[in-house]
Amino acid sequence: MSASIPTMPPQSFDDYRTYITSLLQEDVANLLAHVSLPHPLGQACEYAMTGSGKRVRPLLAASAFLTVHLGSTSDKPLAKTLLSQAPPSSALMAEGQPLNSACRRAMVAVELLHAYSLVHDDLPCMDDDDLRRGRPTCHIAFDEATALLAGDVLQTLSFEILSMHVAGFEPIEPKCSLQLIQTFAPRARRMVNGQMLDLNAEQRFVSQADLEAIHRDKTGALIEAATLMGGISANATSAQLDALQSFAANIGLAFQVQDDILDVTASTDMLGKPAGSDQKLDKSTYVKLMGVEAANDYAKQLFETGKAAIVTTFGPNNALIALADWLWHRQK
Ligand code: IPE
Ligand code: IPE
Ligand code: MG
Ligand code: MG
Ligand code: MG
Repeated sequence: MSASIPTMPPQSFDDYRTYITSLLQEDVANLLAHVSLPHPLGQACEYAMTGSGKRVRPLLAASAFLTVHLGSTSDKPLAKTLLSQAPPSSALMAEGQPLNSACRRAMVAVELLHAYSLVHDDLPCMDDDDLRRGRPTCHIAFDEATALLAGDVLQTLSFEILSMHVAGFEPIEPKCSLQLIQTFAPRARRMVNGQMLDLNAEQRFVSQADLEAIHRDKTGALIEAATLMGGISANATSAQLDALQSFAANIGLAFQVQDDILDVTASTDMLGKPAGSDQKLDKSTYVKLMGVEAANDYAKQLFETGKAAIVTTFGPNNALIALADWLWHRQK
């Protein structure tokens, strides 16, 4: 374990986020160290996987895992561990290793695929943006061909990490590996579909139903994949997976509605990516369709519906509810 991973059990939600994201960064560094990528492809991948990103999808996977794993068996509400200063006596760190190998691989897979989608999304032939995660976009820091190839290889790596044998990673069951890939692959494809629909919808008016379909695919699908893969890693029942799916579908759509809102309400400094990018390209967004206030009300309603699915199945004290509340208040 690297020195960057906190050794103290998480005692607040921020601690928890720091802990989970350090596990992720260690696993990503490990993976990139074990695959052989020619110069400057390895450097471009490393660049795309770092910077000031929020690591929302790995957090969703870890939180879904913990919600399923601890949900019914923990006698102490997880929220007490995550959100208060109570002694860290709960099961979160009880075995010293709160997440299994399947979950850790799922966290890496969803972040790899997400990072690839951002590298390609920023290319001149797509959104043509020059800032990402507080730094020059990959095609500016390197060049367009390298950024294109970095996106390609991040995508292939996201499937490789879910296969059974990867140097430097604990093994996973073949059945679990297959189930993760079967959940991940169609949703990765939906992300691409959504990006095509997003480009098709530039400079024209689309209905709310059409816009919802775009957002559910380009952003929602990967949020679904992350959440479901966390649940699968914890051996979720089909009823539990249904609850995770319903949560993620609502939060996933809400997440992109928020992204549309932040594009007009937040600063470039705060976002670490260019504010006003949607207006520049006359994108179809929720803000264009209904204005900031109604879009915000809509996002709120989606968050409440998503959380209700979790509360019904797992109760109110778990990592997914804590994460949803953190996401609702996000400023970037
Ligand atoms: C940005 O995603 C693109 C969308 C799908 C909305 P994030 O807001 O999760 O970006 P990072 O990972 O924090 O940079
Ligand atoms: C991007 O949506 C969604 C994907 C990358 C799949 P946006 O184009 O709105 O994302 P940002 O605002 O550039 O992060
Ligand atoms: Mg885009
Ligand atoms: Mg963009
Ligand atoms: Mg955006």
